[in-house]
Amino acid sequence: MNDRKELIAAELIAVRDRSLAYTDADDDMLVRQHSPLMSPLVWDLAHVGNYEELWVLREAGGITPLRPEIDEMYDAFKTPRRDRPTLPLLRPDEARRYISGVRGRALDVLDKIDLESPDPLHRDGFVFGLVIQHEHQHDETMLATLQLSGEPGLVRDGALPPGRSGGPREVFVPAGPFRMGTDTLPWAYDNERRAHTVDLPAYWIDRFPVGNRDYMAFIEAGGYDDPRWWTAEGWAWRREHDATAPLFWVRDGDTWWRTRFGRTEPVPPDEPVQHVCWYEADAYARWAGRRLPTEAEWEKACGWDPSAGRSRRYPWGDEAPTPERANLGHRAARPAPLGAYPAGASAYGAEQMVGDVWEWTSSWFLPYPGFRSFPYPEYSEVFFGERFRVLRGGSWAADPAAVRTTFRNWDFPIRRQIFSGFRCARTATPEEAAAGGRGRA
Ligand code: AVJ
Ligand code: FE
Repeated sequence: MNDRKELIAAELIAVRDRSLAYTDADDDMLVRQHSPLMSPLVWDLAHVGNYEELWVLREAGGITPLRPEIDEMYDAFKTPRRDRPTLPLLRPDEARRYISGVRGRALDVLDKIDLESPDPLHRDGFVFGLVIQHEHQHDETMLATLQLSGEPGLVRDGALPPGRSGGPREVFVPAGPFRMGTDTLPWAYDNERRAHTVDLPAYWIDRFPVGNRDYMAFIEAGGYDDPRWWTAEGWAWRREHDATAPLFWVRDGDTWWRTRFGRTEPVPPDEPVQHVCWYEADAYARWAGRRLPTEAEWEKACGWDPSAGRSRRYPWGDEAPTPERANLGHRAARPAPLGAYPAGASAYGAEQMVGDVWEWTSSWFLPYPGFRSFPYPEYSEVFFGERFRVLRGGSWAADPAAVRTTFRNWDFPIRRQIFSGFRCARTATPEEAAAGGRGRA
């Protein structure tokens, strides 16, 4: 195998090690539905193998189906989450055997594949990027399931850099066009294409995600009890669910506690808030006299390099993420404190845009101009419309292989079991825009 193939093989092995670590539990834990919102873990496990069989073995490799009778059970569209526990799912041992059988054949396909082929599934190993990122996304979903289960484990106490305070709270992004999306990254989903010019007025965006200290101030100020801050749908959500704080928080006297993978601890004030839904993020922003950034504002602040006139692959440049630049890959099971990554700053000085928490934007998940579905409409296209809000950046649970400045995630505005937070923005005043961000109040 050549170097490129060796790299792909290493990523396949790494993501499988991750999936197996998350499912290294007794059968009852794996087959139980921990929450009606989520699949049993054993469904995710077999689903990633079935997806690999479909794309690498059958589509790219021309191999006849190993177990066609299970396809429907593991098709996320044909089988909604709430129905999954009632299916005759593969038992955990059977699922492990199945996915390892698929994997052996996938490595044979990798060995034979022509990376220069005109077939877009083969070229540059596209189909392997597809299954590697898919499995990492499901691994993050499994972590959300494990967090909901309240079972101990998976906390992982890997060291994170200390936070730092001081310096500006927001950064200025001057008016002007930038290129959103990509035509040139080595790997991107259909929804990240095509690159197109977006001309934005001047704006400010928070240097860091909103932290727990500021979020607690919103709660203390009665933010959850004041319909002025909420949209009509948001207020209806807040009342229906009797929400008073982020998911997994409880108050005891004057102290807020949170439970994280079965461990209860005081809410750390200097960490980005997580487990908030879009409605909560939107209400906080209005209370703070601000708003959520649009997806375009988020991407420009994260990836655009105004002096080079091009987008960076990551906020700091094109070099791969390191532990000094971003909190990714489940090294610790938490966001890092605010200010932990000065070396990860974007060209405009925004920090922690990649890693820590997924960040809600004000935008619906919509196609870019010239969108073409590839390789199948059920990855992106069927989700376009005014039902899902876009999240950007990637959480501490996202793998470096599955994040970049153009990556688009999306979810229902009510979702908060995901590792979601946000930062705020505001349109610059004409005076600020003219002064280029200097001399603000
Ligand atoms: C991109 C995270 C919204 O997990 O629902 C997984 C990705 N697509 N399997 C999801 C996906 C097919 C998707 N998100
Ligand atoms: Fe999937």
